[in-house]
Amino acid sequence: MDKPLFGTLPASASDVAAHWDTFYIFLCIISLFFFVLCIGGMVYFSWIYRKGRPGKTSTVSHNTPLEVIWTVIPTILLMIVFGWGWVLYKEMVHAPADSMEVRVLGKQWLWQFQYEDGRVTTGDLFVPVNQPVKLVMSSEDVLHSFFIPDFRVKQDVVPGMFTSVWFEAKEPGMHQVYCTEYCGAAHSGMLAKVYALSEEDWKLWKRGKEIKIPGMEKPIAKSGETKRVSLASAGEKIVKQYCTACHTTDGTKRLAPTFKGIYGSKEELTDGTTVTVDDNYIRESIEAPATKVTKGYSPIMPSFKGQLSEEQISQIIMYIKSLK
Ligand code: CUA
Repeated sequence: MDKPLFGTLPASASDVAAHWDTFYIFLCIISLFFFVLCIGGMVYFSWIYRKGRPGKTSTVSHNTPLEVIWTVIPTILLMIVFGWGWVLYKEMVHAPADSMEVRVLGKQWLWQFQYEDGRVTTGDLFVPVNQPVKLVMSSEDVLHSFFIPDFRVKQDVVPGMFTSVWFEAKEPGMHQVYCTEYCGAAHSGMLAKVYALSEEDWKLWKRGKEIKIPGMEKPIAKSGETKRVSLASAGEKIVKQYCTACHTTDGTKRLAPTFKGIYGSKEELTDGTTVTVDDNYIRESIEAPATKVTKGYSPIMPSFKGQLSEEQISQIIMYIKSLK
């Protein structure tokens, strides 16, 4: 793990973190420079033109070269800050395509993690090192915010929608997670830990074995039995129960669009606009199906709002995602 660049910053444990730190230091240096220039100038001029000093200041109306300089230079600096911030922001929000996905559920007052193979952990997130991890997050009750200072990633977790962050841990280690959105009495206790595991430890953990993290006294508890239902398989069960009267999963047309290959595709709607089928669109189609109806179909689907848990919605999405 890299040492913090400033004494006040937590360790920087991902590439994104290092990029943010460089940007942060750039901002600090610029701010310091202009602080010294402006405040220093103010103090200097109030001293040399103090009351009682002989001589009189000449009348100055304006100075064109000076005005151009103090307009152009800050403008250029601000554009650099904007452009740099934009590039970093894009890097932060767009997870690489080969990311491992973990579904995160925030609720008063804990964090729950669902892995693709169906494993569920509460308060502890286990990830392999050198592997981008995408967290797709939602809330069961109020606004929360998921923050891992060591990775410099933070994102609001909002009821009724999915948001995401991603990171890639560089070395094995443990990292603190905070909730950074005031969410009620036990907000400050809404904590979790990220355990970045070496390749061997990750394999052991996936097989349900006990592992020991360097620097930690106690070994990490076993991940539970190894027989479990993957998120996609659990989703398949729900889809078979609720959806397949109208939706097919093999590409054939029935009363509603098929689920095969639909995830990530662009669908034309009855009003002529298009929509990308992603997690939030699937959620909307489950909860308010008449809002965006695919062209060529009628709005016959009833709303399932309140009938499916957050976990079940995630399972359905993972199943639809698996139908390539
Ligand atoms: Cu959850 Cu604060």
